[in-house]
Amino acid sequence: MNQTVSRLYPPPHEPLPLHGLYLGLHLHELGSPEHPFVYANFLSSLDGRIALEKLNGDSYLPKSLTTPADFRLFLELQAQADCLITHGGYLRSLSAGKLGNILHIGQREETADLLQWRVEHGLNPQPVIVVASASLDFPLPDSIHEHSQTCLIATGENADPAKVGQWRDIGYEVIFAGKDRQVEGGPLVDILAKRGLRSHYLIAGPDMLDTLLRDGKLSRLFQTITHQLMGGQGFRTLSPGPEYGPLGHLKLRSLYYDPSSPYDTGQWFAQFDVNE
Ligand SMILES: NC(=O)c1ccc[n+]([C@@H]2O[C@H](COP(=O)([O-])OP(=O)(O)OC[C@H]3O[C@@H](n4cnc5c(N)ncnc54)[C@H](OP(=O)(O)O)[C@@H]3O)[C@@H](O)[C@H]2O)c1
Repeated sequence: MNQTVSRLYPPPHEPLPLHGLYLGLHLHELGSPEHPFVYANFLSSLDGRIALEKLNGDSYLPKSLTTPADFRLFLELQAQADCLITHGGYLRSLSAGKLGNILHIGQREETADLLQWRVEHGLNPQPVIVVASASLDFPLPDSIHEHSQTCLIATGENADPAKVGQWRDIGYEVIFAGKDRQVEGGPLVDILAKRGLRSHYLIAGPDMLDTLLRDGKLSRLFQTITHQLMGGQGFRTLSPGPEYGPLGHLKLRSLYYDPSSPYDTGQWFAQFDVNE
């Protein structure tokens, strides 16, 4: 991919290759056992939509929010992670064929460089997968086993003991990271840090973002903002819960501009520090 983007912030303003833009951040080096580096990435429209809702309340990601350039950056962020934090809802959607498989690195010819990059930079070829789920009711794809990936299931202490037992019986480790049925950000990150995992990439939805942000565990937010007003009366945003106040105050770290997509409009790739 020869595409370039313009750096708008910080100065100087200059064109830069898209390819390698986020790999150069070396996020895998920013965490320590005491302070793991936790980052998330979301796509939104100018009017703040991250998904639209159908009449039956199901939500979906509109095609105009996704672009090849954004996906490349998503994969570059993924390549720098010790572990990927996903959730039960994603695995149900994956199994139903509604979403593609984003659990493995370098699966196509054009992304093989990312697998090589990981190995060259001392990371395991494939990241650990952490599945956050209160229901514990989801299928796991065979591809996790095929890639020899460690998969941890995170839930709360009040999760259904029968379901906890079912997962353990078939060889999966279930970790309790919350007092009720839900996972809480603080305990989750602490448990993962004790296992030596230092860079966590959140590839879940707004609920897990909320969990991590409220517990002060999110280090950086990446956001792609496509230049479109999406409208739609039913929609999802990044922040489904109560007001954040100062917790939600973010500091811009970088801003890049791609004038070409989606549909010849444009998009910004923004990077914000959360806990300074
Ligand atoms: N534009 C974007 O960048 C972007 C990014 C992500 C998602 N989305 C879209 O936004 C919509 C909603 O997102 P979503 O469905 O991914 O996620 P979500 O509504 O935030 O969470 C859904 C599932 O995650 C699990 N979960 C969340 N928080 C948890 C916690 N604290 N403890 C335990 N489990 C927890 C639950 O699984 P169990 O039911 O198994 O308990 C829950 O059903 C979807 O349409 C999605 O496509 C957009």
